Amino acid sequence: MNHPTSIAIEFENQNLQILDQQLLPHKETWLKIETVKDMILAIKALKVRGAPLIGVAAACALAQSALKGTSQTALLSEADELAEARPTAVNLMICVERMRKAILDRLNPQELYKVAIEIFIEDINLCEKISNNGNPFIKDGDNILTHCNAGALATAGIGTALGVIKRAHESGKKIHVYVDETRPLLQGGRLTAWEMEKAKIPYTLISDNMAGHLMSLGKINKAITGADRIAVNGDFANKIGTYSVAVLCKHHNIPFYVAAPYTTVDPQTPNGKLIPIEQRHESEVKGYGEAQWAPSKANVYNPSFDVTPAELVSAWILDKKAYTKSDIEKGVFKC
Ligand code: MRU
Repeated sequence: MNHPTSIAIEFENQNLQILDQQLLPHKETWLKIETVKDMILAIKALKVRGAPLIGVAAACALAQSALKGTSQTALLSEADELAEARPTAVNLMICVERMRKAILDRLNPQELYKVAIEIFIEDINLCEKISNNGNPFIKDGDNILTHCNAGALATAGIGTALGVIKRAHESGKKIHVYVDETRPLLQGGRLTAWEMEKAKIPYTLISDNMAGHLMSLGKINKAITGADRIAVNGDFANKIGTYSVAVLCKHHNIPFYVAAPYTTVDPQTPNGKLIPIEQRHESEVKGYGEAQWAPSKANVYNPSFDVTPAELVSAWILDKKAYTKSDIEKGVFKC
């Protein structure tokens, strides 16, 4: 069997490791995962994160558990626990469901391992297709805004929104990327900036509240983000702050694209109002690591995602093709 490689996760036989994204960009430390519990803790702490990647990581953890001799009944309850680790990214539920079906079919551990590796390889290939489908939307001289991290650290492959940006750069287009810092956990400032440096793509880091000003000065002419769940009507959830970016784009007449694999589309969710939004701990807003800036008793609200309505989206760049509003209205996301 061919063993896939990724900059964020490694899985070969019982050896499962993730790059600890909490420590990036200053430390590149691989964390050994020995049990499904380890993986659940890593997903909850965002040591491994990004909608497609947590789906792949969950599948690998279940396969590792099967290889270690866990019974069918115990595997099924581990699958339930994994699916509940984070509520918004539907990729997690979809990948766990694929593994659950395989477990119920009484596949042996080696066969379950094969299913997890297939999920891993599929995600790499989906990223390639998304990047190719998105490349024509990027033009020479573009100044592109992105939010959060939808790159190789969020997938098993090249990335979704960042995959499109990387493919445009590889094909020789002279582009520049504005990277939103992405409060509160700084996936832009820590992770997207790290990926832009690795890929040698010119970028400028900005804090989240600067995008409107830059747009008013004509410094941004395109925006692209990833997604955690796309509803049937094209509304989608992504990292908190994405909705504000889309509204700003509308006001300034700037195209706003979303890039994602089909595993992010949820045919069970008719519209964005029904997407569950993860609420996270208040400590994430009060400070970061050692730095604590808010009064310790400050009242905090910390939704991790927001929903961008379909009307603000210029195109949905998926692995099959880039969809327009009229495609969505015809019901392409229904199944
Ligand atoms: O909380 P995170 O870091 O897992 O949130 C990630 C995002 O919102 C990404 O933009 C999304 O998962 C798309 S990743 C290809």
